[in-house]
Order: sequence, then structure tokens, then C-alpha cells
Amino acid sequence: MNNYFDLINKRESCRNYIDKPVEKEKLIACIEACRIAPSACNGQPWKFIVVNNKELSPKVAKCLQNLVMNKFTDKCPAFIIILEEKSDIKARIGGTIKNQDYSSIDIGIATAHLCLAATELGLSTCIMGWFNEKELKTLLSIPKSKRIRLVVSIGYSADKKLRNKIRKSIDEISLFID
Ligand SMILES: Cc1cc2nc3c(=O)[nH]c(=O)nc-3n(C[C@H](O)[C@H](O)[C@H](O)COP(=O)(O)O)c2cc1C
Repeated sequence: MNNYFDLINKRESCRNYIDKPVEKEKLIACIEACRIAPSACNGQPWKFIVVNNKELSPKVAKCLQNLVMNKFTDKCPAFIIILEEKSDIKARIGGTIKNQDYSSIDIGIATAHLCLAATELGLSTCIMGWFNEKELKTLLSIPKSKRIRLVVSIGYSADKKLRNKIRKSIDEISLFID
């Protein structure tokens, strides 16, 4: 079992997958990690469509690509499409009163759970916010009224070495009031 800080350092966006199928049990474990994620008023405003299919995955990949964007997905065996579902009434009222978009926050947290669980299981992911929502809905028979919020590619990485993380410093992003 990884130490938490090892795990978060090991997670990086993978844009280079090998041709190896992803075990269904591992995908179920990733969804379990999403299922137990926290959410405003425990509203759980999400649904996860798991595409792990030799014929369908390349078609999903095409919906994620535009110009140079997300070309790497051609080689990815599986995708998790994250839909926003109607939130709990309390979370919706609270969000309106407080002018907060709790569902987006909830989905972001669940997505982080997903990527970290995948990393723990030896898989690699890339979160994608760039996709053709309309085409993806048609391909997967998702009703027009639903929103697709993110797509996560998931598979085994071809890269053996981790990249250095380029990030702002602690000083830039925090204020400690002692
Ligand atoms: C909401 C969101 C949307 C993103 N969309 C894309 C995308 O469409 N294509 C892509 O290659 N990476 C995408 N990324 C990955 C980021 O570029 C990446 O997380 C960031 O550069 C940090 O690198 P790392 O994930 O390797 O640590 C997205 C990440 C997030 C959180």
C-alpha cells in the first residue's frame, strides 16, 4: 500500500498508453472510490459511464479530439464519462443562497478519488475537460438534457519515469495565519 503522499506524487496525467486491456475489477474499484467521495449534503450528483470496449473506446476517443487536442486518446483502452446528475434539494437551495456551484466541486472531488484509486491500482489516467459533448451524448445515447462534465482516460502507461511536477510554490498559493 502506498503512503498517501507517494500516491499523490505518483499520479500524473498520462498521454501515452500501452495496448493492454484494463481489468473490469479495477474499474469497479475506481467507481467504488468515487462512490464513497464526499459531496454537499451527501447529494452525490454524479453518474459514471465506463467504456471499456475495443470497438467503442476508439469512437469515444474521436469525440475528445479536436485539432491537436487529446490525440493521445486513440491509444487509450478505457474511458470514464462523468455526468452531472440532479443534486440533493438541500444542496441546490444551499448553493443558490450561498452562490456556490456545489455539484462542480463534488464532481471534482469524486474525479480526484477516481484518479488516485487508479494510480494505487497501477493504472494511469488523464482528466479531460475538452470534448465534443453533443457527439459523445449521441454516441452513448445520453439524453440531451444531461451534462457531461468530465471524461477520464484510463489504462496502462507506456512511460516508465514520472515527470517533475511544475507547480506554484506553497508561498504563492497559501496564507498561514498563526
Ligand atoms: C478539469 C480538468 C480538465 C483537463 N482537461 C484536459 C484535456 O482536455 N486534455 C489534457 O490532455 N489534459 C487535461 N487536463 C490535465 C491537466 O492538463 C493536468 O492535470 C495539469 O497540467 C497538471 O499535470 P498532471 O496532471 O500531470 O500533474 C485537465 C485537468 C483538469 C483538472
